Amino acid sequence: MKIAFVSSEVFPYAKTGGLADVAGTLPKELSKLGDEVIVFMPKYNTFGEAEYGLHYSWDIGEIPIRLAGEIRSVHVHTAILPDSNVKIFFIDCPYYYHRFRIYTNDHDEDERFLLFSKGVIEVMQKIGFAPDIIHCNDWQTGVLPLLLRDNYGWDKMFDKTATVFTIHNIGYQGRFTKASFSKAEIKDEYYLHGGLGEYEGGINFLKTALLTSDIINTVSNTYAQELMTNEYGHGMESIIQKRKNDLWGILNGIDYNQWNPETDKFIPHHFSINDLSGKLENKKFLLKKSYISFDEKKPLIGIVSRLVAQKGFDLIKSVLYDLVALDAQWVILGSGEPEYEKMFYDLSHYFPNKVWSYIGFNNELSHLIEAASDIFLMPSKYEPCGLNQIYSLKYGTVPVVRKTGGLADTVLDWNEYLAQDMEIGTGYSFHDYTPAALLNSVKRAVGDFQNKGVWKKIQHNGMEKDYSWEKSAMLYQQMYKQAITNRGQSNWNRET
Ligand code: ADP
Ligand code: GLC
Repeated sequence: MKIAFVSSEVFPYAKTGGLADVAGTLPKELSKLGDEVIVFMPKYNTFGEAEYGLHYSWDIGEIPIRLAGEIRSVHVHTAILPDSNVKIFFIDCPYYYHRFRIYTNDHDEDERFLLFSKGVIEVMQKIGFAPDIIHCNDWQTGVLPLLLRDNYGWDKMFDKTATVFTIHNIGYQGRFTKASFSKAEIKDEYYLHGGLGEYEGGINFLKTALLTSDIINTVSNTYAQELMTNEYGHGMESIIQKRKNDLWGILNGIDYNQWNPETDKFIPHHFSINDLSGKLENKKFLLKKSYISFDEKKPLIGIVSRLVAQKGFDLIKSVLYDLVALDAQWVILGSGEPEYEKMFYDLSHYFPNKVWSYIGFNNELSHLIEAASDIFLMPSKYEPCGLNQIYSLKYGTVPVVRKTGGLADTVLDWNEYLAQDMEIGTGYSFHDYTPAALLNSVKRAVGDFQNKGVWKKIQHNGMEKDYSWEKSAMLYQQMYKQAITNRGQSNWNRET
């Protein structure tokens, strides 16, 4: 199958969260399974060309693209995704992508990603790549399926191309004014009088994708079910319910070449399920760097996260002092909402011998925290998949999570399954989104940490799990086939 995979972030070039990890790995797995895959992302100025081996494509040259009444000059650079033969195309337009960060609140944020979508289509035209599948991810690529069928509908090369849209996070929808669609020269009928892109008086890129892609999926089974409810659907639940026959839930995999305690290049001491001594050395190393004294009786609790409401920081805030009062130590890595950045920054200053925080983005440190911590805390309000709890399982770091989305699908509560079978529990989870439920789960974990036998069992149960990409990539292949069938019976111009 010929697949074009389109994402606004791809690891290692640009990353704000798990989407980059998925976009940097799934295409490689599909290629290993025999598919012909190419990847697209914008060429931001936040990463170096030389460092990642980018080359300017003289073959493609300049592509003039009209957007918002202006002709923008688009160029293309290419590279090969590390450890693969998958080619990645970077859509280069300094006017839009040379900004302070990869996502902005600038007035033309819609234009930045409309240009990206048009650029992707026009590059495929220029190189003659007629894909069976265009796989779009999150709102930034949400209008691409509509552009393909409408603005570029004249091009017979795409007659058989099916579109797939993956929801990595329904909380981010790309909402703009109606001017957005006219800037892209999309016909009035798609946004006036309740047209398919219209939502609450403006344009919604994600809604557009939900109604125009041949298949939609999300990144865990539980989240796929949750998306159809008022509690989790963020206003999209009724649309998703209508498309439930075209909705798949496929759990993300993990790139064990990057996230493996036996080989991880970012940690000073390697370890494995058979010998966890290196884990303890990593803990001592990190505590020393954090000016916290090592005490073998105190578990180290780690957090690595975008500091946003989705991740349950309001719960943590409500019981902050109860949590810190526990006989445990804390390392926190994250950046995001100022309220939570300040909360952790202040906490580490009030309790320097108990809490250490690093406010910022640091890939190397994220690996060290996974390796060094005893417990990993992830009490998300909602979590489409979540990758850190899966990394934690591999690193013998026992996750404490809220039972939602991908967290529910990957972490099995120790106490819940204890009577049934000691082989089952891999962590601690709680259902109700309340500070008391969170505190109770953390207390259970901190308590069990004192029982070395129990703790080792939980660690082993988690470390034995295999979340490699291959199985999920095969499910993507099946889903692509259904997308092609749907495209054949095309009723893409769906009712809103
Ligand atoms: P989300 O995509 O919602 O942020 P995921 O758990 O799927 O959540 O993925 C988050 C990814 O981003 C993980 O690879 C995690 O290690 C990484 N990450 C999050 N915050 C930071 C940070 N401050 N520094 C380094 N890596 C981070
Ligand atoms: C999103 C979700 C996260 C998921 C990631 C990759 O950012 O918040 O749960 O793991 O995308 O699919």
